[in-house]
Amino acid sequence: MAKGFTLWFTGLSGSGKSTLAEQVRDILLERGLKVEVLDGDVVRQNLSKGLGYSKEDRDINIRRIGFVCNLLTRNDVVAIAAAISPYKEIRDENRKLIGRFVEVYCKADLDTLKARDPKGLYEKALNGEIENFTGVSDPYEPPDKAEVVVDTAAEDEEASVAKIIGTLEQMGYIPAGDGRGYSEEEEESIKQRLRDLGYI
Ligand code: ADX
Repeated sequence: MAKGFTLWFTGLSGSGKSTLAEQVRDILLERGLKVEVLDGDVVRQNLSKGLGYSKEDRDINIRRIGFVCNLLTRNDVVAIAAAISPYKEIRDENRKLIGRFVEVYCKADLDTLKARDPKGLYEKALNGEIENFTGVSDPYEPPDKAEVVVDTAAEDEEASVAKIIGTLEQMGYIPAGDGRGYSEEEEESIKQRLRDLGYI
């Protein structure tokens, strides 16, 4: 039975993609799965070195990440991608290529992101020092059928992680954990979303 799948995090800069990706990775490693994280910031230092932030370059970056995720997925590795991936069409292209694909939309309102701004990028983008900054001067197309939506401005990290792990369990991508880690209400809301999307 195939064990690999791709967990694809999308969302604005600072929305929590990398943090959640790492936490989910640690849980899956503890459960004995093989996992690799492809983080946009890291990929841009090697595989996508030299690419910028035009639509064309972002599309190349996201297709490259999707290509690697597909290789890993078909070899029973859990591939976790964390990149803004602002364009729906390219994310969906990866979904189609990979098949075993679970999308996590890290939602956070712009005011929260501007207030967090750990890299100071929003301030620079708002001052016009960085061009084409996603969410400020460049588009972001949210997914409408993401398997998981985490509102990182409203819920804590633990709740977001529980939602992601719970969804993977409910979809049968990973076996159910002994300690479960989420309440009955949370389980019901995960199931409701999967029913709405036609998975269960
Ligand atoms: S993507 O659009 O191609 O998916 P990716 O996730 O790889 O983007 O890289 C985004 C990271 O690059 C941000 O977290 C931020 O640190 C940095 N960055 C630098 N310039 C920009 C920009 N114009 N828009 C968005 N992110 C930028």
